[in-house]
Amino acid sequence: EEIPLEMHKVRMIQRLDLVPIERRLEAIKEAGNNTFLLYNKDIYLDMLTDSGVNAMSDNQMAAMMTVDDSYAGSATFTRLKDKLSDIFDKKYFLPVHQGRACENLLSMAYVRKGTYVPMNYHFTTTKAHIMVNGGEVLELHMSEALNPVSSDPFKGNMNLDALNELIEKEGADKISFIRLEAGTNLIGGQPVALENYIATSKIARENGIPFIIDASLLADNLHFIKTREEKYKDHSIREITKLLSETADIIYFSARKLGHVRGGGIITNDESVYKTLLEMLPLYEGFSTYGGMSTREMEAMVVGLEETMDEEMINQGPLFIKYMINELLKHGVPVITPPGGLGAHLNAMEFLSHIPQEEYRAGALASALYIASGVRGMERGTVSEEREADGSDHLAAVELLRLALPRRVFTLSQVKYTIDRVVWLYENRKLIGGLEFYEEPKVLRFFFGKLKPT
Ligand code: F0G
Repeated sequence: EEIPLEMHKVRMIQRLDLVPIERRLEAIKEAGNNTFLLYNKDIYLDMLTDSGVNAMSDNQMAAMMTVDDSYAGSATFTRLKDKLSDIFDKKYFLPVHQGRACENLLSMAYVRKGTYVPMNYHFTTTKAHIMVNGGEVLELHMSEALNPVSSDPFKGNMNLDALNELIEKEGADKISFIRLEAGTNLIGGQPVALENYIATSKIARENGIPFIIDASLLADNLHFIKTREEKYKDHSIREITKLLSETADIIYFSARKLGHVRGGGIITNDESVYKTLLEMLPLYEGFSTYGGMSTREMEAMVVGLEETMDEEMINQGPLFIKYMINELLKHGVPVITPPGGLGAHLNAMEFLSHIPQEEYRAGALASALYIASGVRGMERGTVSEEREADGSDHLAAVELLRLALPRRVFTLSQVKYTIDRVVWLYENRKLIGGLEFYEEPKVLRFFFGKLKPT
C-alpha cells in the first residue's frame, strides 16, 4: 500500500461535529438536496471545494501581520506584483476579488456577439460570463477527456486538429480568444501537458488570436507535468512554470486555489491589454493596487505563490487523491481515472445507472453521500449546466460527484472514513432515487436551486 505522507504538522485545530443521521436527513431536506445550501454545523468533512479553504502555512499567517495596508500604492501590492513577475515573467498585474472577476473583465474586453471562444473544457463561471457577453463556448477536447476510465495522463489537452479546423472554417476574426484551463476542473481536475500549451500557443500566435490560460488549478498541473511528462521530469517546478507562462498572452487565476488565499488576478506582458483592463478595474473591483482583495491576503499570497514552487508542497493534493482513487477502485466503485488534481471524482453516471440522467444522478449521489456520512461533496453534472435556449435541460457529458481535498486540511484517517462510507453507499446504491427541481434560478442554478425526490 502506497501511503501518502503529510509533509507538514498540524499546529492549530478546529473542532468538528458529526451530527446523527436523523439530523443529516433533516438538514439535506432543508437544503433542497443541494449541498451548497447546507450549513457547516451539520457537516463533518467539507469536501465541497478546495476554493478559499486550503490551510495556510505558518509563514503565510506571519506575513499577514507584516502587511502594508493602504488604499493606493501599498508595498504589499508591489511585493505581490514582483513575486508574480519573478515566477511567471509577466510585467503587469491586475488584482481582483476572485477568479470569476477575471472572467468578467476578460469577457467584457474580448467577447463580442457571435464570436467563439474555443477551449479544452468550460468552467461554470467562465461559460456564464462568455454567454452573457454574447459569445459561444466551443469545447475542443480530446476524445479521451470524457472517457471515465482512461490511462491518458493528460486528459485535459486541447484538440489541436479541431482548433486548426475551427480557425480555417470560421476565420480568426470570429474567435475572441483561445482559452486553456490548467487542471481541467469539470472533467475531474485533469491536467494539460506542457507540450500542449506550447502547441496551442503556436496556433494562436500564427493566427493572431489572443491565448489565455486559466491557471486557477495550476499547482496540480505543475506536479503532473513534472511527474507524468517524460521530457520535463528533470526540470524544476520553477522552470516548468516559466516555460508554461511563456506560451500565454494572458494568465488569470483564482487565488482561492492558486496561492491558498482569497482573491485572484490577471497577468500579462502586453501593455495595451493591461491598459484596457485597467480602465474597468476600479468600476468592478477596486483600485489597481488591491482590486477587491484584502491586503493581508495579498501578503499571504506572496508566500503562497513561493510555496507553490515547492514540489513537496504541491504534491499533497495529488498524492491524497491518488490514494483515494486507488482504494475506491479496489472496491469496484466507479471513479474517474487517472486520478487528477482538485479532488476524487466519483462517476455518478455509472454509480447510479438505475436512475434516469434527467433525474440528476450526480445531484442524487451528493445528497445520498451526505446522509450516509456527513461528508459534503459537490455535484458536477447536469445540475451544474445551464438550460438550452429553448428551455430544455442540457444533459452533461459527465455526471460527477466531486470530493475535493482542500490542501493540508484533512488527515489520512478522515480520508479513510470517507472511502469507507463511499464503498458502503456503492454497495447499497439501489437505496438512492432521482431528483427534480422545485426552485430553479435562471443562471448558475446549481448554487441556489432546490430539488426534491421524484
Ligand atoms: N476557473 C477555474 C478553473 C475554477 O476552478 C474556478 C473556481 C474559477 C475559474 C472561478 O474562480 O471561484 O475564485 O471566482 N472554482 C471553484 C471550485 C469555485 O469549487 O471548483 P473563483
